[in-house]
Amino acid sequence: MNFELTEEHIAVREAAREFAQSELLPGVIDRDTHAIFPKEQVKKMGELGFLGMMVKPEYHGGGMDTLSYVIAMEELSKIDASASVAMSVNNSLVCWGLEKYGSEEQKEKYLKPLASGEVLGAFCLSEPEAGSDATSQRTEAKLEGDHYVLNGTKNWITNGSSANIYLVIAQTHPELGHKGISVFIVEKGWEGFVVGKKEDKLGIRGSDTHSLMFTDVKVPVENRIGDEGFGFTFAMETLNGGRIGIAAQALGIAAGAYELALAYSKERKAFGKPISQHQAIQFKLADMATQIEAARLLVYKAAWTKDQGEDYSQASAIAKLYASQVAMDVTVEAIQVHGGYGYVKEYHVERLMRDAKITQIYEGTSEIQKIVISRGILR
Ligand code: CAA
Repeated sequence: MNFELTEEHIAVREAAREFAQSELLPGVIDRDTHAIFPKEQVKKMGELGFLGMMVKPEYHGGGMDTLSYVIAMEELSKIDASASVAMSVNNSLVCWGLEKYGSEEQKEKYLKPLASGEVLGAFCLSEPEAGSDATSQRTEAKLEGDHYVLNGTKNWITNGSSANIYLVIAQTHPELGHKGISVFIVEKGWEGFVVGKKEDKLGIRGSDTHSLMFTDVKVPVENRIGDEGFGFTFAMETLNGGRIGIAAQALGIAAGAYELALAYSKERKAFGKPISQHQAIQFKLADMATQIEAARLLVYKAAWTKDQGEDYSQASAIAKLYASQVAMDVTVEAIQVHGGYGYVKEYHVERLMRDAKITQIYEGTSEIQKIVISRGILR
């Protein structure tokens, strides 16, 4: 077993680290406070190739492996999880499915600009009454000649107002349950498509999370991905990969908080010496470092499994379940190491704790990951 990163992986890590420090760190507190989407930063991420890392070069992507992607996700998430979730959704939830299951025409028209970062994508599965229970889709697409008529509401959509291209999961045959669900590519600006209210969130406040309303939106038949009835499998397979991205995000949030706590513990003095010299703090640092290392191994394993072409649904759920718990634990402890300073915005760790929580909720709650894992075990 080889735990060494290749030169390419190290180069990706350096590039992502440098970008996070120079472009994401300035203004991150302000964007969080005022819930401002990191528009310019995400644009630059596109220019640097972070938005389509795993897409083949012929479709304007970086042609990299999943390990490169999680390495970049970790580095960006150390500083700004609102920017990294935009990246994760575009890579894992939008580009991946389009590349794997889209027609050549769809790839030409939609994947190329998405992978190069010219435009941003969103993945629309959740609904007011269909979150964890994803089969209970109410959004409906009725076939009328050469187009579908789309009606319904989607909730909690990441990149909700910033995206240009939306993958929308909808019922085409409600009587067939999950086998009657299909997936469509919808463009912003189409008549009847309205971006609804922006959510005022606890964390990832810079990420623009919206509800979306579709009223009699005409979607050409050629914008359906795959056959009718393929939408639920498409969504589940897409989320298997998405969960690796969110696991990497959780890892990054934890690692970012740990690095801040470590640095602070060396500077801050109490009882005549740096607090890092007190065993109470040393034990916290040791626990944090151990949890982060274990999370990183699980995230890398999930990425590696995907790159081997093996079934990675189990590995991704395990990585997400564990890394998101580590993100919560470590960010709480990082605040504790900072004492009162950890409780104010200037020191970043309170934001990282707020950001950590979403990693236990989106792309399947921790409870959903346990369902996926236990079904895998018992299968
Ligand atoms: N991978 C591949 N296929 C899967 C799968 C997986 N992980 N999980 C289920 N399936 C397939 C099953 O094999 C089955 O297929 P067949 O009918 O062909 O046999 C089909 O899907 C239905 O499966 P179940 O009977 O197991 O379905 P279920 O109703 O019991 O639900 C579930 C399964 C795992 C709970 C699923 O509903 C689920 O994952 N829910 C969570 C949804 C979710 O993650 N939402 C997040 C929203 S997206 C988001 O957050 C994005 C963002 O903006 C950041």
